[in-house]
Amino acid sequence: MNTISSILAQSSFSEADLEQLLTCEGDQMQLLFDTGKKIKEIYIGNKIYFRGLIEFSNICHKDCYYCGIRRSNRLVNRFNLTDQEILDAAHFADECNFGSIVLQSGEISSSSFTHRITNLISQIKHQTNGRLRITLSLGEQAESVYKQWYQAGAHRYLLRIETTNPELYSKIHPSDGAHDFYRRLDCLHALRAIGFQTGTGVMIGLPSQTIQDLAHDLLFFEQFGIDMVGMGPYLKHSQTPLYALRNELLPIEQRFNLTLKMIATLRILMKDINIAATTALQAIDPFGREKGIMAGANVIMPNITPGLYRNDYLLYEHKPCTDDEPAQCRGCLEARVVMAGSEIGYGDWGDSFHFVGRKKNLPDS
Ligand code: 5AD
Ligand code: FES
Repeated sequence: MNTISSILAQSSFSEADLEQLLTCEGDQMQLLFDTGKKIKEIYIGNKIYFRGLIEFSNICHKDCYYCGIRRSNRLVNRFNLTDQEILDAAHFADECNFGSIVLQSGEISSSSFTHRITNLISQIKHQTNGRLRITLSLGEQAESVYKQWYQAGAHRYLLRIETTNPELYSKIHPSDGAHDFYRRLDCLHALRAIGFQTGTGVMIGLPSQTIQDLAHDLLFFEQFGIDMVGMGPYLKHSQTPLYALRNELLPIEQRFNLTLKMIATLRILMKDINIAATTALQAIDPFGREKGIMAGANVIMPNITPGLYRNDYLLYEHKPCTDDEPAQCRGCLEARVVMAGSEIGYGDWGDSFHFVGRKKNLPDS
């Protein structure tokens, strides 16, 4: 068996190498994190990019077994921001010089919803003179809808595959035809073909998920040539079916470290992509996102949803910062990034270097 340092010195990695990196502990794990950070600095620099996250509605037509805002959860107070509230939040991001926003909500595919989004994209573009990069995280949609949104001015899309093991996927979603692994995969391919900077991700530490599953997830990102990745630990939520399996989970610290190991290993595998230090990391550790940065992540998504609604967008328990207002989030994150020894890429779109590298083959954006 190779040592961690000899694996880290290689230029390509087998599945067995990845599994070894994902299972290292103690000093070896620290070496992995330090290498993730060093590679980030060499290939894409020391800047952290902010994406203002607007969680504008928790109304969702899907019923994922792990998610707190699933359709069947009758205990959720459902909300939907007005267009003006969304435009105001976008204006706030622009004023803060974030360079980019993410519009996220539960999944809805009605034409009134999709048209509303098209209009919002155009209005945000117009209002900010094209200064903000608009990222969408609105789930599975028809290819024609994705095209419409792209043409309206959204150029990035996040759609997590959740797990690349189809069998595990079917265990954490209802088998009703509306939650199909292969359809999700088709959506990712469609997004990429349209020209979106395409982002995906997985949950880490799901019940019955193996190290081999996670190594396959990493290889999938590489083979797909993904531009952006957001991965976080799976966190239980008492109002979901997956809560019943809470005793089968890895201890929380192990799920946390495994997430950092996934970030560092992915950075070593895909040196020029954007990797987010996700909020779910901070739900476990008050310095979770900083630790993500120290392991190779380069993107943070400050929540700029008006404070009033934050307590109702609980995908998992103990979500941090739900009592803050957007301005507090900004100040707090700024201090955190500096503490983690990095700079903030203000006024910069922060496009994935990986995307920029393959852009010459894409339709004009
Ligand atoms: N724990 C961790 N992440 C979750 N998500 C949804 N529910 C949970 C949970 N209980 C993640 C999914 C989804 C993203 C928006 O939030 O990966 O794609
Ligand atoms: Fe809303 Fe999964 S529960 S997309």
